[in-house]
Amino acid sequence: MTHDTDPASGAGRQSNGAHARSGRGDTDGHSEKTKGRGGKGLHRRTFLGGMAGAAGLAAFGAAGATFSLLTDGNDNEASAADATTATATLTVPDLLEGTASGGATSYTLTAKTGTGEVLSGVTSTTAGYNGSYLGPTMKWTTGDTVLLNITNTLGDDTSVHFHGAHIPPKMDGGPQNAFADGETWSPTFEIKDEAKTLWYHPHALGTTAEQVVHGLAGMIIVADDSDASAALPSEYGVDDIPIILQCLAVDSSGDVKYNVSGYLGAGLSYPVLCNGTNVDSTTLGFTATRKRTRFRVLNASPADIMTVQRGDGGTLTQIATDQGYLTEATEVTSIRLVAGARAEFVLDLEDAVTLQTVVTTGWIRGGSGTYDFLTVTPDASDSPADLPSSLNTITRYDTSAFTARTITLGQSGQTMTINGSAGTSMSSMAMISTTLDAEEVWTIKNGTQLEHSFHLHDVPFQLIEINGSTPTGVDLGWYDTFEVVGGGSIKIAMKFTDFTDDTYMYMLHCHLLQHEDEGMMAALMVTDG
Ligand code: C2O
Ligand code: CU
Repeated sequence: MTHDTDPASGAGRQSNGAHARSGRGDTDGHSEKTKGRGGKGLHRRTFLGGMAGAAGLAAFGAAGATFSLLTDGNDNEASAADATTATATLTVPDLLEGTASGGATSYTLTAKTGTGEVLSGVTSTTAGYNGSYLGPTMKWTTGDTVLLNITNTLGDDTSVHFHGAHIPPKMDGGPQNAFADGETWSPTFEIKDEAKTLWYHPHALGTTAEQVVHGLAGMIIVADDSDASAALPSEYGVDDIPIILQCLAVDSSGDVKYNVSGYLGAGLSYPVLCNGTNVDSTTLGFTATRKRTRFRVLNASPADIMTVQRGDGGTLTQIATDQGYLTEATEVTSIRLVAGARAEFVLDLEDAVTLQTVVTTGWIRGGSGTYDFLTVTPDASDSPADLPSSLNTITRYDTSAFTARTITLGQSGQTMTINGSAGTSMSSMAMISTTLDAEEVWTIKNGTQLEHSFHLHDVPFQLIEINGSTPTGVDLGWYDTFEVVGGGSIKIAMKFTDFTDDTYMYMLHCHLLQHEDEGMMAALMVTDG
């Protein structure tokens, strides 16, 4: 099994509000891939997920018989709309309080190693910020200046990148900002971003996958004083809930894999984690003390696409994409997140509802699994006001006078390239040079049959075309990370505002972390021109 066998999810990306929920990602029939799945497809969660799918109604009668064989007595009475009983409590990452001094809010992070249970009952070597797995959530405020003091105790170089933040290249935390074990890196910058959900993770050359899969990732909430923000839930851990989803590859001794040789090992399993807790056979519970709850979902997986949906087939009210609010709250049946992507939605709940994630693609295994990761049970008597009819104004770019470029994602053997160069060192990577305030339209061409997750640092982009089609629905929002299916292409537009540097560069790359480490990364130099 190698990269070349990746089916690249023949499904392709469809417009978000419209896709049928069953069958997505089930297109892979590679027997050589299915055999590595360790029976995951058979557990109860997958079964329930299938039943709730678009084809589920017709299948319900027949499925019911099997249902009773697979589940306990209570579930025999259940309809597909019932929520799954939670057997553990959702862990909400700590909120890292900043300290105000000298006009800046400072945050202290230490990257360290530890141990944790990635696989239930098995101890794995892990890493985290200020803890043994994942990191605390930082809350930044638009217009504020932040100062981060980040100490590296990992025993290896690392960097910390603020994924999605519009900040100077020197503060961006890319490979040029790597710092050694025992050192402290102290970037400082003004928060120019409006309300959105960002995240932070390592980004040193060649070690990003290894460090992220061991747990180095955390969420960043940017808060602002917009009318939309005022109208939406914003009390962290109460009605504003971070959800970090991950699908990892682990062997039976708990060793978390991050490269081709690791993925070729026998006996791997692919645990799914929600905020660091394994949800393979556990559904987490959250009691909502307000009728309306906001969820910020991050796919921090090294490769897999994680789609979020309701177990009862209902809709999610999506309010934001990677880079902030949609123009209006949009009802969607599912939210498909490629590696690195985020989305926000709200739920107004009268009854308990189970959230599921459908895990698809990955380069090492085929098929999909559906996991009931969270049951939200309302215990609230308030009556939230209607959501504002408008959340944001997004002026669509007229790209007729924009500078056009083509960015080609390529592969030769296990070497991954952008525009023909493997970005495994600063000197070997392709470099895109542009100037301040340039307006550009890029065609991201996937010259491979693999699925890629294209990510651009510095500025948000708008989707102009997805595989030749005009975007609709939530695809009209702002993004920094987007799916490019095997053989497909996207056309994106952006403006390079505010920051220039003659030495430090932004990165553009595939967010499948192994692909990034193997060279699918290029540099972007923005100069004064
Ligand atoms: Cu989330 Cu260049 O990365
Ligand atoms: Cu890729």
